[in-house]
Amino acid sequence: MAWYCSANSNEDLVKNLKAAKIFTSEAVERAMKAVDRKNYVSQCPYKDTPQPLGFGATISAPHMHAYALQYLEPFLKPGMKVLDVGCGSGYLTACFSEMVGPEGKVVGIEHIQELVDMSRRNIQKDRPGFLESKRIVLVHGDGRKGFPEESPYDCIHVGAAAEKEPKALIDQLKAPGRLFVPVGVQSQSIYQIDKDENGKITRKELMGVMYVPLTDADKQI
Ligand SMILES: C[S@@+](CC[C@H](N)C(=O)[O-])C[C@H]1O[C@@H](n2cnc3c(N)ncnc32)[C@H](O)[C@@H]1O
Repeated sequence: MAWYCSANSNEDLVKNLKAAKIFTSEAVERAMKAVDRKNYVSQCPYKDTPQPLGFGATISAPHMHAYALQYLEPFLKPGMKVLDVGCGSGYLTACFSEMVGPEGKVVGIEHIQELVDMSRRNIQKDRPGFLESKRIVLVHGDGRKGFPEESPYDCIHVGAAAEKEPKALIDQLKAPGRLFVPVGVQSQSIYQIDKDENGKITRKELMGVMYVPLTDADKQI
């Protein structure tokens, strides 16, 4: 089970997540092995629970990162474009970039400036050159509105819960494209929202979760 995946190293954490069948994709395994969580969170990086980042935010639990990578994997092929809403530590942004490769692009948007700065420092240290080459772009802003300047995206990941289905983000998906988003207030579920090549939208409820909400920056701390 997911919460039994804690380990003493990044390698063993990824092994445990694979053994628990949280992911099956080899591309996900390669990305999670390449991006060591210790470069994104100092406290208990390999414990399978959320950990505090400061500024009222947390890095999500490793099993939730693994689920997100697995469900989005068909839209994380080399050359694809990704939006990571609430990029926080920058960990998942870096994993996405590993998967879409140097021809792809990942935009991370975060509404707390200090966390934008933190993710910039983390990525600079862990994936030197990824920011300079613009295969990762980090922006400060309200992720509920997406980032239309770089749209459309092959996939969008949302790292905090939306009150209701986020139309602005669905509008910024390519056709085909996929959105992975926690939705709800008292009770939340992750939804996989797919846009097909004709623009038709379908929704699949994946699992019940407990995420912090997408908020205004001044309400978070
Ligand atoms: C659970 S954390 C996950 C962070 C990141 N995915 C990670 O694992 O390191 C949720 C993040 O969403 C950010 N957030 C909340 N509301 C936001 C908004 N309206 N726009 C952009 N980011 C937001 C928070 O500041 C926080 O960094």
